[in-house]
Amino acid sequence: MSDTMVEHAIAIQTSGISRVFKKLRAVNSVNLTIQQGELFSLLGPNGAGKTTTIKMLCCLLKPSSGTATIMGHDIQKDPLAVKQIIDVSPQETALSENLNAWENLNLTGRSHGLEKSVVRQRSQELLEMMGLMDRSKERVKRFSGGMKRRLSIAMALVSDPQVLFLDEPTLGLDPQSRAAMWEHINQIKGSKTVMLTTHYLEEADSLADRIAIMDEGRIVVLGTSQELKDGISEQSVLRVEAEGLTNDVVERLREIYPEVTVVDGGVEIRAEKLDLYEILDFLRPRGIVVRSTQLKQASLDDVFLHHTGRELRE
Ligand SMILES: Nc1ncnc2c1ncn2[C@@H]1O[C@H](COP(=O)(O)OP(=O)(O)OP(=O)(O)O)[C@@H](O)[C@H]1O
Ligand SMILES: [Mg+2]
Repeated sequence: MSDTMVEHAIAIQTSGISRVFKKLRAVNSVNLTIQQGELFSLLGPNGAGKTTTIKMLCCLLKPSSGTATIMGHDIQKDPLAVKQIIDVSPQETALSENLNAWENLNLTGRSHGLEKSVVRQRSQELLEMMGLMDRSKERVKRFSGGMKRRLSIAMALVSDPQVLFLDEPTLGLDPQSRAAMWEHINQIKGSKTVMLTTHYLEEADSLADRIAIMDEGRIVVLGTSQELKDGISEQSVLRVEAEGLTNDVVERLREIYPEVTVVDGGVEIRAEKLDLYEILDFLRPRGIVVRSTQLKQASLDDVFLHHTGRELRE
């Protein structure tokens, strides 16, 4: 179907939503419009305000100002309607440790008012999808952290919510489980509106339709991964591997180019316009042997650095 044929409905809309804790503006006037079926990722360092945003959208925390709608329902005026169409897998998983996986799923499903048989059917599908069937009759307190996280996501899916919030779904998972979780999320993609928070750049890069980078309570930039990278591509990065580079030469380069970083085996030069030949002509007469040069595409790391002046993982 072409875009013109699809009537895009808005799933989540926030207008100036903010939350203040004493003097701290944890979320500072955030405006977001998320389409139905979109997988939207909120990316940002610890304390950026991701969880606080999600808690407000799930009616678990009151905004200090501003508001939001979920599928047209106002989170403050109509929280009951909102709660019926959403579900959340929280950052701190809330499982009943003394119950097994089936019982946890049943409890959640029943609390959403679903028929027992429906809950059973969905639980079976979800336990299989999350690879938990083998251990489904064991008490959850014996589960590993990764298994608990997978069960938490199954629980968020049992009510078949229209809008799903996944707060750090891959937190504490080993690389293999993380890849498996990405596959699960990919399976859900398109059929539900998903807001996912993460501080893994590659996760947002590979899964999300659009990404918002959040920092100190604000959305600093928003777009598709490609748009974010293109947005800073007036800055090129050239990696030069060379022998014989001295501190003196690096200092000279810094007089010419705004950003020169010493890396293993050479330097990286970042500037608005880079002329490779100009750089080679500068290095050669100084006795420096250039082994290789490589123009690097901007990464999400670069995007984050560009907009916040900091590395994402500090
Ligand atoms: N209940 C609370 N009382 C006081 N301060 C809070 C409360 N909840 C969150 N904060 C503060 O609000 C800020 C944003 O926290 P939040 O949990 O939203 O960040 P986050 O982006 O989810 O971070 P992380 O990546 O660590 O999960 C932090 O400085 C945090 O300490
Ligand atoms: Mg958080």
